[in-house]
Order: sequence, then C-alpha cells, then structure tokens
Amino acid sequence: MAGANNEQLVELDTSDSIWERFYTVFPLVVVGTHEADGSDDLAPKHLAMPMSWKNHFGFVCTPRHHTYQNILRDKQFAVSYVRPTQTVLASLAASPRCDDGSKPISQALPTVAAEKVKAPLVEGGYLFLECEFEQMIDNLGDNSLIIGRIVAARVAEDALRDVDQDDGDLLMASPLLAYLYPDRFAEIAKTTKLPFPAGYKR
Ligand SMILES: Cc1cc2nc3c(=O)[nH]c(=O)nc-3n(C[C@H](O)[C@H](O)[C@H](O)COP(=O)(O)O)c2cc1C
Repeated sequence: MAGANNEQLVELDTSDSIWERFYTVFPLVVVGTHEADGSDDLAPKHLAMPMSWKNHFGFVCTPRHHTYQNILRDKQFAVSYVRPTQTVLASLAASPRCDDGSKPISQALPTVAAEKVKAPLVEGGYLFLECEFEQMIDNLGDNSLIIGRIVAARVAEDALRDVDQDDGDLLMASPLLAYLYPDRFAEIAKTTKLPFPAGYKR
C-alpha cells in the first residue's frame, strides 16, 4: 500500500503485538513499591505517563509482577524519572526474581525513601512522584493500567524550568532519557521549540 508520500507501507499483523516491528519513543521510569515484608521493590516501566492535567499518573503493568500486587495491597507507589546516565541501573531493576521469589537487586540499587508514601525512589533521578493508588483498569490483554494521584512531587534543581534560563540551554545541560522500545535508548540534549498555531490554548 502506498503512504501519503508514496512511500511503501507494510501492513502489520494486529493479531500479534505490533510494537517490536519498529521503533518509537517512550519515557523510562522506575516504579518503587514495598513488598509484603516491607522491603523495597523496584521495576522499570516505559508504558507510563500523566493521566490528566490534574496530577494523575498511570502506567501499564502485568498482574504477575510484584509491583502490581504491592500496589493492590498498599495502595501507594513512587515514580523516579531516571537520567540518561542511569540506564544500566533502570535496566537492572528488571532482574529476574530468585527461585524463592526474592529480588535482591531492589535492595542493591541506591534509593531514598519517599516522604508521603511508603515506597523507594531512585537516587540521582531528576523527577520524583509520590502517588496514592486511585484506580485500576484490568484485562488490557495480559496487562492492567494502574492510576495514582500524585500527592508529592520533587524535581532536581538543574531540571527545573526557569523564566531566566533558555529552555534549550536547560535541556542541553540536563539531557533527558528516551527509551526506544524494545532495545535502544537516546539521550535528548539538542531540542527545538515546537511551532504552535497562532492563538493556541491548551
Ligand atoms: C526497559 C524496560 C521497560 C519495561 N517496561 C515495562 C512496562 O512498561 N510495564 C511492565 O509491566 N513491565 C515492564 N518491564 C518489565 C518489568 O519491569 C520487570 O519484569 C520487573 O522485573 C518486574 O518486577 P516486579 O515483579 O518487582 O514488579 C520493563 C522492563 C525493562 C527492562
């Protein structure tokens, strides 16, 4: 089939997951929760984003993961937006569990405790959200959408927008991490202002 620019388009088989067939841009965050015994649990998530302009945050998770079970039990979680220098750390948080169900990597990674919820945050990230669980949408294939209300948020000083600083310079000095599912990442430093239509309002 020919596309709008007469490029050849390839029809994808929608009876299977299409997302491994091409690259597209996702964020990468680490979700922190507490296990049933009160120890820390960390897991990277890329299907994760704000769910409203009123400070809701949501991410997709499978009910098989402890993250899902921990949130269902404790009704709270924390989110760390990691920097491009922290990709190894974020990826390690997906280390498989031991035969006894434990996940020692969650205790080995550098964390600080969230302040308003009982959950770990990843040290050195640039944005930290503390969330109280609000709702769950189950049966999205094997997955569920977990939505929380942000009850505390902190941003690293170098990542905070400032009227006295050019936004392009800010991102050049403090680049962002983009996850290119399934297996690549990029550091975003060089950016350009988006052209909005005249009179545009959100
Ligand atoms: C880069 C990366 C991104 C991931 N994104 C997600 C995601 O968006 N949703 C999800 O359910 N699992 C995702 N995972 C897999 C889980 O984070 C992983 O299986 C984790 O170990 C589950 O841990 P838990 O049992 O402690 O919750 C991702 C893994 C990696 C390496």
